[in-house]
Amino acid sequence: MGGKKIENTMSRLSSILVVFLLCVAFVYADKFVDVNTICKKAKNHSFCSALLNSNPSKSRDLVSLALYTIHVGHINATNALNLSDTLVAKSSHDLEAYTYYSVCSNDFKEIVNILKVAQVDLKSKNYKYLSIYVENIRTHVSNCIDAKYPIAYPDPSLLPKYAAIVDQDAQIFSIIANYLGQA
Ligand SMILES: *[C@@H]1O[C@H](CO)[C@@H](O)[C@H](O)[C@H]1NC(C)=O
Ligand SMILES: *[C@@H]1O[C@H](CO)[C@@H](O)[C@H](O)[C@H]1NC(C)=O
Ligand SMILES: *[C@@H]1O[C@H](CO)[C@@H](O)[C@H](O)[C@H]1NC(C)=O
Repeated sequence: MGGKKIENTMSRLSSILVVFLLCVAFVYADKFVDVNTICKKAKNHSFCSALLNSNPSKSRDLVSLALYTIHVGHINATNALNLSDTLVAKSSHDLEAYTYYSVCSNDFKEIVNILKVAQVDLKSKNYKYLSIYVENIRTHVSNCIDAKYPIAYPDPSLLPKYAAIVDQDAQIFSIIANYLGQA
């Protein structure tokens, strides 16, 4: 009878252990959030789902989506940087334009650097600065686009459009970073 009791206790303990291990496995598993759920929070839902669904990788966990968003953001910021530099070179005769595009060039150079650091952090599962990076990226975009020296420069180029795309990439990254921070 004593043996039976021990057996019961053992089997109860082992089921507790199984439940415990399942909980541990769940907590440490890759975290998934549906693309639609993420994009419902985005300013432009169709831009967001087009971006996230263009990920050629089969991995759909949050870190993979975040890395892919950084990858696209890096391409877009590099394009904006290249365009700014081209426009700086073309506006040596126009001080206002020259100043404006030089400031933008510095801002996009910073954004490209921030995205590189964010990528390293993500790969080493260090999520604590991600929201600061997003904030800094969006501040740099606004510093370029909303600049007023001493009056706002009426930029006729494609740069405001490129900058708006970088800002949307950053906004999507911010939504994913929030999910990572909550985990
Ligand atoms: C949303 O993004 C799509 C492209 O993905 C674009 O065609 C559309 O103009 C954008 N809408 C707004 C309000 O920016
Ligand atoms: C942004 O990057 C995506 C992905 O490479 C590309 O399809 C899109 O044309 C880029 N847009 C700009 C303005 O750089
Ligand atoms: C930006 O310009 C550099 C050199 O000026 C070039 O190597 C690079 O491919 C360009 N990047 C993009 C995305 O066009």
